[in-house]
Amino acid sequence: MSFDHLAPHYRWMEHVLAGDVLQRARVAHLRAIDQAKNVLLVGEGPGQFLSALRRRRPNVPVTVVDSSKAMLREAKRRVPPGPTKWVQADLKSWQPPAARWDALVSHCVLDCFEADTLAKILPRLAIGLTDQADWLITDFAIPAQGWQRSRAKIVHALMYGVFRRTTEVDARARVDPSPWLREAGFRLRERREFSQHLIHADHWQRS
Ligand SMILES: C[S@@+](CC[C@H](N)C(=O)[O-])C[C@H]1O[C@@H](n2cnc3c(N)ncnc32)[C@H](O)[C@@H]1O
Repeated sequence: MSFDHLAPHYRWMEHVLAGDVLQRARVAHLRAIDQAKNVLLVGEGPGQFLSALRRRRPNVPVTVVDSSKAMLREAKRRVPPGPTKWVQADLKSWQPPAARWDALVSHCVLDCFEADTLAKILPRLAIGLTDQADWLITDFAIPAQGWQRSRAKIVHALMYGVFRRTTEVDARARVDPSPWLREAGFRLRERREFSQHLIHADHWQRS
């Protein structure tokens, strides 16, 4: 099985399991890319973020890169029309052209990868971005302490268990992407937290 099998069910499953909290996190920093001239979305899935972006920026050029044909099909079906380039590619091997985009959005996808893989993917994605690019990331996190930490560990164990059985995800736990982002010249501008610190919505910026 792969994300292809999950594609037709992704939206309703998210709605049942998480309500609107993930979507609130995805769009938490939408305004930060209001001035972007060229936007790259990786691992966009069935298009929830792109739908919100299109309603706000109907004419901004967007490139969507996802390895799942069915996810891309689902997104094309649901997202409002606009200048969107759809690319079916595996981030593990995709080579972006240099300095092409001034905004990158990678929601709920970096946590699919192990550290070795992230160490290759993140610097390559950074090459595709301009000197002052913005990078928006929503991910599941594990809080430092308290009952929120225990709860998050259970959620992560369930989530990775399901994804490892039903998709091509090889990660066993979340790896913090921050060191590679800093290495590529990005700084965390703002973090918003949702669902008792379980979900992070980050705005990173290169400067
Ligand atoms: C957990 S879903 C997240 C979807 C969406 N971004 C969201 O916010 O819910 C992960 C997405 O990343 C894509 N993906 C996973 N591994 C990938 C890879 N190696 N290359 C490109 N896309 C990948 C999957 O096809 C899927 O659409």
